[in-house]
Order: sequence, then C-alpha cells, then structure tokens
Amino acid sequence: MGRVKINRLLASKTAMDSVVVKGWVRTKRSSKDFSFMEVNDGSCLKNLQIIAESGLANYAEVERITTGSAISVTGALVASPGKGQTWEIKARSVEIVSFAPEDYPLQKKRHTDEFLRTIAHLRPRTNKFGAIFRIRSEVIHAIHQFYRERGFYCLSTPVITGSDCEGAGEMFRVTSLDPAEVARQGRMNFNEDFFGAEANLTVSGQLSAEMFALALGDVYTFGPTFRAENSNTSRHVAEFWMLEPEMAFCDLDGNMDHGEDLVKALTRHVMENCAEDLELFTKFVDKSLEQVLDTLVNQSYARVTYDEGMEILQKSGRKFEFPVENGMDLQSEHERFLAEEYFKKPLFLFNYPRGIKPFYMRQNDDGRTVAAVDLLVPRIGELIGGSQREERLSHLEQRMDEMGLAQQEYWWYLDSRRFGTVPHSGFGMGFERFLMLVTGITNIRDVVPFPRTPGSINF
Ligand code: 4AD
Ligand code: MG
Repeated sequence: MGRVKINRLLASKTAMDSVVVKGWVRTKRSSKDFSFMEVNDGSCLKNLQIIAESGLANYAEVERITTGSAISVTGALVASPGKGQTWEIKARSVEIVSFAPEDYPLQKKRHTDEFLRTIAHLRPRTNKFGAIFRIRSEVIHAIHQFYRERGFYCLSTPVITGSDCEGAGEMFRVTSLDPAEVARQGRMNFNEDFFGAEANLTVSGQLSAEMFALALGDVYTFGPTFRAENSNTSRHVAEFWMLEPEMAFCDLDGNMDHGEDLVKALTRHVMENCAEDLELFTKFVDKSLEQVLDTLVNQSYARVTYDEGMEILQKSGRKFEFPVENGMDLQSEHERFLAEEYFKKPLFLFNYPRGIKPFYMRQNDDGRTVAAVDLLVPRIGELIGGSQREERLSHLEQRMDEMGLAQQEYWWYLDSRRFGTVPHSGFGMGFERFLMLVTGITNIRDVVPFPRTPGSINF
C-alpha cells in the first residue's frame, strides 16, 4: 500500500478503508482515550487530522509525540465530525519516524518574518512559507506553459559569461586563480585564469538570447542572475531569477503588449491554481490582495513616455527624497508614486533619456531618447525592464564608441547586425518581484528559499 499525499486525500470523494499518510506533526492534543494530531506533508496548506486511540500497541510512545516530529500513519479515511475539515484518519498504526525535541524552534505561536529569516532552513515548514514556495513552483510551471503555448523556445543561456550586458559594473567575478598568487603578482593575470580571459556571473542572458531570437524567432531564457550591487533594499537580492523573452520582428509596442499578456496570464494562473494558498495572504499579509489581483488581470495597463511621467511627478506637489529632474533615473519612490497613487494600476514608462540606459537600446529619432521600457507596478515599482534593440549596425557602433565599449569584445554581437539584422525586442522580468506582487509579501528575502544579500550568505 503506497503513501498518499494529503492534498489528494482531502480532495477525495469517498471514504477509504486503508491509506498511508506520512508527514510532520503540527499540533497534538491528548486525552485519556485519544490523541488528535494535525499532520502536514507539504502537499497543501491544510493539515490532516489523525485520531489515535489509546488501544494502539505503542500508545505510550504516541503520547510523547512532539510538534515537528515525523510520523507514518496507516488507517482509514473517514468523514470528520469536527468542523473545518471533511476527512480525518482513524489510525490503525502510528509509526514514529523521528522525534523533534522540545527545542524545535517552530512551536505553535506565530513568528515574525525577521526571526524566520534567521532559520531559513526551517521556515518552509510554516504555513506562510509553505504557501510561498508552492506558489513559486507553480509560477515556474506557468511560465513554461505560457511560452510553450505561444511557440517560444526555452533557451538556457550561460551563467558564467565573458561579456557585460548591462554595463553597470555590478558583476561577480569567476576565477580559479590562487588569491595568494594574485597578491604576489599584484594583479590578476587573466591569461593564466581558467578561461584565459576575464569571466563573471551573468547579470542578464539578453545578449545570448538576442542571437537565438535571430535564429529561432521567439525565445526566452529563465534562470539565476547575479548582481553585486550593494543595495540592501526590500526589492534587491544578489542572486535572483530573471525571465527574459526576446522576439524577432517585434517593436516597442509589441514588447509592451507581450509584457502585459505575460503578467496577466501568470496572475490568472496563480488565482486559478493556488486559491487556497492565496487566501492565506489575503487574510494575514495584505487585506487588499484580491483587489490588487483583480486590477492586474482586468485593467489595461497605462502607457506613458518618460517625459510625461516626469511631468506628472513634477506637478504632483509631492516632496520626494530625490527631487525630480528630467534626465534622471527614477527612484523607487517615484515609480511607486506613479503606479500606486497616480495611475493606481501598472504602467509602462517608455522612451527614456539615452544617457541613463545601456548601449544596446534602440535610438529614437529625437536623438535624445532610446526605446526603453519599464513596467512599474503598485507596491514594488519596477517589475520589468526592457527595450527595442538597436538593430542598425552603424548606430550601434557609434553608440558603443560614445560609451567607450571595445567593439572587438562584442564582435559576435555586432555580427548579428551584419547578417540579416531585424527589428527585435525583449525584456527582463524579476521573478521574485512578480512573486511579491501576487502574494503581497513586502520583502524579497521572503520569496527566495535561501536569500543572498550584501553581508549575508548563511546557508
Ligand atoms: O532592468 P534590468 O536590469 O534589465 C536587464 O537586465 C535587461 N538586460 C533585461 C532584458 O531586456 N532582457 O533587470 C530586469 C528586471 C528588473 O526589472 C527587476 O525586476 C529584476 O530584473 N531585477 C532584480 N530583482 C531582484 N534583485 C535584483 N538585484 C534585481 N535587479 C534586477
Ligand atoms: Mg531596470
């Protein structure tokens, strides 16, 4: 007789004579004649109630079961007379797989997120973090489904890279050089390094994805991404996952259409497939979550230029910590003002000044802006950053010269503009930021299994 997961048992239409359940005890109450145990096996938010009668051969041992202990139960699935649950298990045998002693940190009371971050190895055993990581898994699935249905190819772009995509100087170095030798020579001799050249962890798979979009048409890359930026905020981690679609024959409008479709489809998927887990966030994390999700799915997202955005901010009468000036990069307070207070829904901000954007973005005819686009959303700010790419060789070369980028290092990238170049576009969506958006979680550290942030790599 095989083990059955609790989510399947709770969804059962009929009673069952004999089932095996394995999981961890969340709570236990004992009386003279019975022990009631709430067991969770991670398959869903709900626990299954186990009733163990004092007639069990090992009842003395059962009475010693503590919160956090692992058990294996064989018994009958029967209708539960108690309220709040349809089924319970009448145990015929309870095997104790292992005890969790009294110093198990997750006793019944609720813990703060800050405390739980110090025990990131145990927090998935709580209701809230169990729900987060089930949703995280479900969204990964939804992403692949979304792209498969639209004929995109999934591309695994390299994690170790020899080129800098964003040019923001935020890369983690990859080297096999001996630090003592580097110190002795007073420099890193890249000729002697593993790749015979400088190497880093990727900050974006975009440049590789572009090469494949120009061959396979529509591709996406989805994987770990690394940034050595020293920003200790609630929306930045040093290791995160980025989803990057790249589309040939697609302009900036098409790019925005695609971003809106994506966010709507993923949100709808979560609402349809994670209803029970979502309810927890509505109850305990953000009372307005239903409204937020409804807006994400049903409203059309605003589309305004950077210049228009600046004007709205300047006329707002709001005193920002960073004063608003045309030409500057937006701070999260500006992004949030636009999304949360002004538009009260997501907005695409496009056509940014070229001085604050990377080399690969398509130059607009005004000679001042590039076809960049960010999707700004309530409570988070930037969720998506992307652009139409500069497909014209001479424009690209001239821009790289202006920015002091060595053309020979990007020879392969420039090749794509030499041979059959076409207008194309893409963007990157911060996966964790999307999870924050749909759960109401306000700190990015709480949607990452083991977060990496400046000064912290404990697990
Ligand atoms: O705006 P970014 O830097 O765009 C790029 O890297 C482009 N090359 C993507 C592309 O066009 N293919 O990053 C994209 C998104 C941001 O909007 C944000 O959601 C997320 O990645 N992101 C981070 N998420 C968590 N922690 C960090 N440190 C992040 N940095 C960026
Ligand atoms: Mg960005």
